[in-house]
Amino acid sequence: MPTDIEKDEISGQYTTGHEWDGLHELNTPLPKWWLYTFYLCIAVAMAMFVLLPSIPWVHSYWHGTLGYSSRKVAMAEYAKMESLHADASRKIAAMSLADIRKDPALLETALTAGRITFANNCQPCHGAGGQGRPGFPNLADDVWLWGGKLSDIQTTVTHGIRSSDPDTRYSAMPTFGDDILTAQQIQQVADFVWVNFYGHAEPGVDTAPGAKIFADNCAACHGDKGQGGRDFGAPPLASHVHLYSESRDTIVAQVTKPRLGVMPNWGAKLDPATLKSVVLYVHSLGGGEE
Ligand code: HEC
Ligand code: HEC
Repeated sequence: MPTDIEKDEISGQYTTGHEWDGLHELNTPLPKWWLYTFYLCIAVAMAMFVLLPSIPWVHSYWHGTLGYSSRKVAMAEYAKMESLHADASRKIAAMSLADIRKDPALLETALTAGRITFANNCQPCHGAGGQGRPGFPNLADDVWLWGGKLSDIQTTVTHGIRSSDPDTRYSAMPTFGDDILTAQQIQQVADFVWVNFYGHAEPGVDTAPGAKIFADNCAACHGDKGQGGRDFGAPPLASHVHLYSESRDTIVAQVTKPRLGVMPNWGAKLDPATLKSVVLYVHSLGGGEE
């Protein structure tokens, strides 16, 4: 114990008695609250060391007296999620689409599952969020080939369009280029569709012959005003939304030899709950009809 402890005049504090080259060290101990907190931390750490898994041995480790393992906790959570998920799936499979929509919690589960199913199965063709691209219809707008009610969408998705399912939705626009219409008539009907329905002014073009050809050959499916025909999956022509690209050449190509898009029958691939979920998801994208 150094004996030359003295009071420092400037700070008013005692020195420790240590001195180097005339410099005296002030005695400023740690605050008590800090010190006790520090001791408490050591005590807690030692207790955790004993209670919880801590020391690694060569082939194993100290498991702790509580027997806790984060793996066990995660597996228990996982099992709980699994059973919740199985419950929800069973409910979705058993309930009608309309009833699922009346149950907000179940609907939310279904929409989440539907979004994931859509991303995995439908997005490659219909694009993210179902915005579509030429040949693959936009599913988020209110223009529909076969209908936008829940039941319409369910039929389309379950059985597909021109698919291998015996109950597939089916219609075939005729191949007018195969001797049904002459090349000149195809140009004329394309003029009529381009000007009157797609709405592109072409001064000097006479659309009267095309109008007659349309009424005779096309109106049965596409409607006399080009409003489309859902019984045939015939797109509305009097619209700014088109299944294929908006160009006169595309109209000529489609009339000459229609492409007849194919949509797979998902009923053969998705379980009932997953299928219903994706139908609800598509219906929720913005174009769903009541
Ligand atoms: C291989 C490409 C492809 C995949 C994958 C695909 N579709 Fe389609 N889908 C199409 C095509 C092509 C059409 C339009 C067919 C036509 O020309 O009439 C279509 C049409 C539809 C329609 C009808 C739209 C309307 O306007 O009536 C719905 C609904 C639909 N698809 C939903 C889905 C859902 C849901 C999935 C995923 C489970 C999916 N599609 C996956 C190609 C695909
Ligand atoms: C039997 C019914 C049917 C008849 C008749 C028919 N179409 Fe179609 N049309 C369809 C269907 C179905 C589609 C879309 C399917 C596909 O090809 O993928 C379509 C698509 C089209 C498209 C593409 C529309 C778009 O949104 O991109 C044009 C243009 C068209 N038809 C014009 C005509 C014209 C012109 C005629 C008469 C010369 C005609 N169609 C006769 C059923 C028909």
